[in-house]
Amino acid sequence: MTTVKACLFDLDGVIVDTAVYHFQAWRRLANELGFDFTEHQNEQLKGISRMESLELILNWGGVTLTEEEKVAWATKKNQWYLDLVMQMTPNEVLPGVPEFLKSLRANGIKIALGSASKNSKLILERIQMLDYFDAIIDGNNITKGKPDPQVFLMGAEATGAQPSECVVFEDAVAGVQAAKAGGMKAVGVGSADILTEADIVIATFEDFSVEKLAHLNRN
Ligand code: G6P
Ligand code: MG
Repeated sequence: MTTVKACLFDLDGVIVDTAVYHFQAWRRLANELGFDFTEHQNEQLKGISRMESLELILNWGGVTLTEEEKVAWATKKNQWYLDLVMQMTPNEVLPGVPEFLKSLRANGIKIALGSASKNSKLILERIQMLDYFDAIIDGNNITKGKPDPQVFLMGAEATGAQPSECVVFEDAVAGVQAAKAGGMKAVGVGSADILTEADIVIATFEDFSVEKLAHLNRN
């Protein structure tokens, strides 16, 4: 049995439900450009960088923009998103997350963030969770987005763990794929119908514990 030395967490939709704010801001962008998209389509945007998300959305709406226009719309979207983020409080941390992170620390397991977001530190500060993390790897550090494993491999390295000693927590299909591509265990947070490639899926951290972590990595 491999010992779990580090847990790597996605941010949006795992630590805090900013996924709903991303959806609202992207939808506003689509609506201003004259079209709409569904919550089902939104699943494809989870874990995907800002500019890649914009490309997908423009494609859905059949809208063509110049590079300059794309940057301008992405900046607008981020401003709408940040307006929502700035209203967040520590109460929005998802159920069971602080307790689980505290128990990891008590058991000597390292904690890293592995997020595509360029806003991750701002969000962690806002919800008063910055101090829980031994390492933060985010959209400002990576050159390849999920499903490439880069963000999680960098997280493993920053915590001194081998990929086989890491467990990733993810709400995005692309994020689960990144974890698996990196040779790590993946715990899906959300729906088992969507996160089919995860080793297990939990609805909330209230359903999970350090004891279950050891069991998960037994092979
Ligand atoms: C996360 C979210 C994505 C978002 C990406 C970039 O991975 O799941 O929906 O597009 O971060 O976020 P940012 O805050 O940099 O726009
Ligand atoms: Mg996510």
